[in-house]
Amino acid sequence: MKPIEQQVVVITGASSGIGRAVALAFARRQACLVLAARNEVALEQVARDVERLGGRALVVPGDVSQWQQVARLADTAIARFGRIDTWVNNAGINEHAPVADMTIEEIERIIQVDLMGYIYGMKAALAPMRRQRQGTIINVASIVSLRAAPLHAPYVAAKHGIAGFTEALRMELMHEKMPVQLTMVMPSFIDTPLFLNSRSRLGVQPRPVPPVYAPEAVAESVLFAAEHARRDIIVGGQGALVALLQKISPALLDKLMVAGGLMFRTQKTDKPDNGYDNLFQPTPGTGSVTGAWTDESLPYSWYTRHVEHYPERKLAVLGALGCATWLLLRSRGRTTG
Ligand SMILES: NC(=O)c1ccc[n+]([C@@H]2O[C@H](COP(=O)([O-])OP(=O)(O)OC[C@H]3O[C@@H](n4cnc5c(N)ncnc54)[C@H](OP(=O)(O)O)[C@@H]3O)[C@@H](O)[C@H]2O)c1
Repeated sequence: MKPIEQQVVVITGASSGIGRAVALAFARRQACLVLAARNEVALEQVARDVERLGGRALVVPGDVSQWQQVARLADTAIARFGRIDTWVNNAGINEHAPVADMTIEEIERIIQVDLMGYIYGMKAALAPMRRQRQGTIINVASIVSLRAAPLHAPYVAAKHGIAGFTEALRMELMHEKMPVQLTMVMPSFIDTPLFLNSRSRLGVQPRPVPPVYAPEAVAESVLFAAEHARRDIIVGGQGALVALLQKISPALLDKLMVAGGLMFRTQKTDKPDNGYDNLFQPTPGTGSVTGAWTDESLPYSWYTRHVEHYPERKLAVLGALGCATWLLLRSRGRTTG
């Protein structure tokens, strides 16, 4: 894989949150960036920031739910820079509501943007990368790709769909010995405007479930994946724990998430909803990287940096956790025995 300084990188959803943090992180490494989202004003601001940090930027406004617009994004990147080294699928929307309260139109829109948008991105990136016989597609999925959470079922379905599509495509590429890398980056809960942009039928403003991480923690993993071939990277230790529990007992995890209304309470603030969402139109203004939880957000995940980025260490960590649990249980047995 090329050093980031020599890469041409396409980023969808670059006007806000994680995508914007990813763009700025690539810019600090002097990459050539192609920035996509619907809000052109915000993208132009990101482009100025990218250039100020030492990168090069091309703004291509568009809606990822439209195949023609995603295909045009790839064509424009190739016309300007001659190749695409890394394609980051990241644009996303959400709605917080029980399924019973969602309309079919809302459900279809979320699937169209959050799943079809990623599939279009993979299709659009694949053609030039196959010609080049080189490239990396990074799908910013979610921990809910591995384990569902209530109150945003279509989003969860889309993220599960990304995992399935990515896995199937990866095997096809392996089968034909095509050196195109596919990586899923799966964040836990991140302090971005996603929760302010979400359509809410909870009666209150939704929020990320603590512990919350800064968008830069995800950007770090996306940049890592652009230089190191990895299958998937979970961002945040809490996400890794959920993934482990899901492997051990999904039924137990159902009970834990519902017990005392855990995953229902923790996704709500006590503030009224802002009455705004970006399902069918972009967020106005110049946008931002962070949401409303910067005070409580962790700058990075130690677990992700030291374990997820180096999966060969996972067994050692699991072994250490197993030993610690055994020692704890043994000492408790002694004191009670
Ligand atoms: N925040 C979290 O806790 C979290 C956790 C796990 C995964 N993620 C994932 O991270 C990704 C980025 O989310 P975020 O948290 O950074 O949210 P965000 O701040 O709301 O950013 C979403 C981005 O997607 C763009 N977008 C939305 N609909 C679009 C469309 N139809 N066409 C093109 N662009 C569109 C938005 O720009 P415009 O409005 O200008 O189009 C914006 O740039 C999403 O895929 C999300 O699922 C987030």
